[in-house]
Amino acid sequence: MNNYNIESSIKNRLNTRFIGKTLYYFPKLATTMETARNLVKKGAGEGTVVIAGTQTAGKGRIGRTWLSPKGSLAMSVILKPALENLPQLVMIASLAVIRAIKEVTGQEARIKWPNDVMINGKKVCGILIENEVSKGTVNFADIGIGINVNFSPRKFPEIADLATSLSHEAGREISHTELVVKLLNNLEQLYLEAQQGAPVHLEWQRNMETLGHRIKVDTGKTIEQGWAQTTAENGNLIVRRADGSLVEIVAGDVTVIKD
Ligand code: BTN
Repeated sequence: MNNYNIESSIKNRLNTRFIGKTLYYFPKLATTMETARNLVKKGAGEGTVVIAGTQTAGKGRIGRTWLSPKGSLAMSVILKPALENLPQLVMIASLAVIRAIKEVTGQEARIKWPNDVMINGKKVCGILIENEVSKGTVNFADIGIGINVNFSPRKFPEIADLATSLSHEAGREISHTELVVKLLNNLEQLYLEAQQGAPVHLEWQRNMETLGHRIKVDTGKTIEQGWAQTTAENGNLIVRRADGSLVEIVAGDVTVIKD
């Protein structure tokens, strides 16, 4: 299929009001994050989607790189939420991924705080959200979603032990188009619900495998250790230390401590 056919086969099947109405597919990009940001500067509106077949400079959280070989899905979605809805983007993005995976593959995925999506304890999707806020207004948020769809992470030593893919878990090739369509449909539904005050953080909590475990969190500045007790409404992780005190973590990397 050429780019136009890929774009139209996704757009024709979407059940959305605004997400994906403008959608670009590129066989290869440095990173969808940068392309989406440049499109916003040229006036791209809310709901604009950028998809890359492969990325040569995929960006991960905390300055890491993200592998986007052929067979993976790399996508950015531009949203322009009210400031009070900004913390919910992490939640609705991971929930939309989980729902889409269930609908397309039948697999039960879980969330590792804050927004890794895991199947059978291995990472299948990473989410990176960048935003620009000025004078209390969100100019834009760029939701970057990378999913290991049809490739074998075992062939990539840097992620072999930690990652899995949908095709590996489902034992069959997965349709990118179907996955993108379900993902965008769910994303818009959750986004609209969140704007109407739905308690999306509760569904997010219910789907989080981190809670109830003994964990170590590397925040970049400190290492906290304790029980992952719950999450706050704004998405922060609440950890109970061994001395009983509670600490609220805004961002970090979680490792479950196995006894
Ligand atoms: C992480 O887990 O570290 C986040 C990974 C986010 C990867 C996606 S792929 C689409 C978008 N473009 C990028 O360069 N990164 C995000």
